[in-house]
Amino acid sequence: MKTIKKLFDNNRLWADSMTRMNKDFFKDLARQQSPKYLWIGCADSRVPANEIVGLLPGEIFVHRNVANLVIHTDINCLSVLQFAVEILKVEHVIVCGHYGCGGIKAAVEDQRHGLIDNWLRHVRDVYHRHELELKKEKDKDSLLRRLCELNIREQVLNIANTTTVQDAWRRGQGIAVHGWVYDIHDGLLRDLKVSISRKNRFAEKSLFIT
Ligand code: CO
Repeated sequence: MKTIKKLFDNNRLWADSMTRMNKDFFKDLARQQSPKYLWIGCADSRVPANEIVGLLPGEIFVHRNVANLVIHTDINCLSVLQFAVEILKVEHVIVCGHYGCGGIKAAVEDQRHGLIDNWLRHVRDVYHRHELELKKEKDKDSLLRRLCELNIREQVLNIANTTTVQDAWRRGQGIAVHGWVYDIHDGLLRDLKVSISRKNRFAEKSLFIT
């Protein structure tokens, strides 16, 4: 119970520090949110969206699941995307995966993990699509890192192909979709340079990771 109480103590300290910084901070936030970014990241506790990019509450809309997947029929993720694009009018959608992802690793292991194996099957599909390339990697670690990147690229394409983003581009709404990878070993983000926006959306077949 002590550990749970600690969370409430921490919360009080945090709320106090925020209001010391700006006495109307919560009053202003309660009125509205106008984030410019939607972050779709892994649920991993080591990859907290706001902290990594140094943004305050109200500045980034967040959806997280295991292995940062955007599945064509996942009503949860698709609803977040629709709300972010159509109501909040975010300008950037960021898919952020991370090296050392347990979900990516579990997806290629020949071992049962239970229900989650069904979810991770999507990552395994990415693996199979790029099997020839992945088998050329020098060891398991570099294979997993590469699969991490390929998985992110796949999710960027999935977002670009949703009705929400396609309709937004057709209306002329400027939204860019980006693929980033976070390294839990040094805390740094890397842009995979697989961004798709309204302008280059027809060139997506030529997408590659540098
Ligand atoms: Co992960």
